[in-house]
Amino acid sequence: MLSRSRDFLLEHLRDFFVAEDDGEFLGCCALAVLTSDLAEVRSLAVRPEASSRGVGKALVESCLAEARRLGLRRVFALTLVPEFFERCGFTLTSLGRLPEKSASECPVCPKRFACDEQAMLLHLDGTKPQALRAGEPWGYTRIFLGREPDQESA
Ligand SMILES: CC(C)(COP(=O)(O)OP(=O)(O)OC[C@H]1O[C@@H](n2cnc3c(N)ncnc32)[C@H](O)[C@@H]1OP(=O)(O)O)[C@@H](O)C(=O)NCCC(=O)NCCS
Repeated sequence: MLSRSRDFLLEHLRDFFVAEDDGEFLGCCALAVLTSDLAEVRSLAVRPEASSRGVGKALVESCLAEARRLGLRRVFALTLVPEFFERCGFTLTSLGRLPEKSASECPVCPKRFACDEQAMLLHLDGTKPQALRAGEPWGYTRIFLGREPDQESA
């Protein structure tokens, strides 16, 4: 996951869901609305002490419920743990099919030369998104810069 500045967090504070147990922080996740059709699940993190108890999945489900409430059609995530998002119903796809993200935020992301993140997409109407094809590259660096991610700046 990307590190975020205090200013960024304050600006996007209202996007966040927080999981807690009797006042103790367990984890958080944000739903960022990009267009009238599409939102991103991001900044998902569960405290190691609280992992494997369904907290991450519950946070993602809260984001999906909010996306439905807002009338959105698609929700995606960029992640290094695609298996977790598969367990939440998402499909591994290509960032190339999400130009709303790849053309706006990715080109100015500090990790753009070292991006190995996989794109996971869920259609809220239950239809199946187009999956990543065998041999298709993933991550902003490979798809849009045509080179392997720079491990030193990862
Ligand atoms: C990834 C992360 C959010 C998972 O949170 P969690 O609360 O431990 O996950 P849950 O208990 O809700 O697991 C839900 C399902 O995903 C599976 N799962 C969880 N983490 C997984 C992983 N790293 N790899 C594969 N499957 C995973 C669980 O086995 C469970 O499967 P089930 O539905 O069959 O029971 C948490 O480990 C984390 O914060 N990691 C560090 C930050 C990070 O990588 N964030 C994601 C960035 S987009």
